[in-house]
Amino acid sequence: MNSKEWLLKWLQHINEDGISIVKGVPLGENMVHKVAELIAPVMQTIYGTAFDVEKTQEPINVAYSTLPIGLHQDLVYFESPPGLQLLHCLEFDDCIEGGGNTFLDAFEMANKFRVTYPDLFQTLTKVPATFQKVHYNREHPVHIVNQKPHIKLNHLGEICAVYWSPPFEGPLAVAGSEVEQYYLAYEMFAKTLSNSKMLQHRLRPGELVVFNNQRMLHGREGFKTNGGARRLKGCYVNIDFFKSQIQVLNNLVGDGRLAKRVGNQCFF
Ligand SMILES: [Fe+2]
Repeated sequence: MNSKEWLLKWLQHINEDGISIVKGVPLGENMVHKVAELIAPVMQTIYGTAFDVEKTQEPINVAYSTLPIGLHQDLVYFESPPGLQLLHCLEFDDCIEGGGNTFLDAFEMANKFRVTYPDLFQTLTKVPATFQKVHYNREHPVHIVNQKPHIKLNHLGEICAVYWSPPFEGPLAVAGSEVEQYYLAYEMFAKTLSNSKMLQHRLRPGELVVFNNQRMLHGREGFKTNGGARRLKGCYVNIDFFKSQIQVLNNLVGDGRLAKRVGNQCFF
C-alpha cells in the first residue's frame, strides 16, 4: 500500500478493465475510506461520505432491502455522477442465499447496440431521459432533476458517456412525436443488457470491489438472509481526481504513457 509502483499497477487495472476486486482488506468501518484515500479524497454526496448497504426495516432505497437490483449506475441524476465506487464487504454469512453482485461494461454494450440497432442507437443519443431524485422524507430533503440522453457522443461520434439507471428515472418530458421511438429504443437496449453475459461475484468479508461507475453497470441478486447478515460499506471518488492520479503516477514512476480516459465523458 505504500509503494507508488504498486498503486499505479492497481489504478491501471481499474482504468483498463473498469473493475478490480481487492482481497484481504481488514474488517473495519473506516477501511473503505482508507482504501479510497489511496487514490483521492472521498466524494461527498447526498448519502454523506460513506453509506451502508444493509437490510433495514423500512428501506428508503431498494439497496437497503433484500430485493434484486437490476443493472444501473449510481447518482446519474448528478451533473457529473461519481467516478469510482468502492464497496467493502464487512459481513456476508454463508447461510445467505443469493446476494451476489453483478457487473457489465456499459460502453461495450452501447457499442454493440450501435452495430445491431443503428436507428435505435441514434434515438438514445438524441432523446433525453429524465433522471431524478426527489425525496423529501429524509433528514436533508433532495430534489434533483437532470434531463439528458442515455448515450452521449463526442465531436468524433465516439461514445463518451452512458447513463442507465431505471430506478431513478422520472416522467419522460419530450415532444409527443419522440415518445414511441424512445420507448422502443429503451426496451431494446434494456433487453440487450439483460441478455448479455455479466460478471457475477459473491463478495466475501474482507473483499473490496472498486469500479468505474461512469463506465460499469452494477446490480445485485435478491437474497434470503436465513437469519444471517450481509453488510457492505461504500463510498465514491470523483472521476477527475482518479484520472489525474493515474496520469501523475504514469509520469512519475511509470512509462509516461497516456492514461485511458474512458468513463470521464471524454474519450481515448
Ligand atoms: Fe447502486
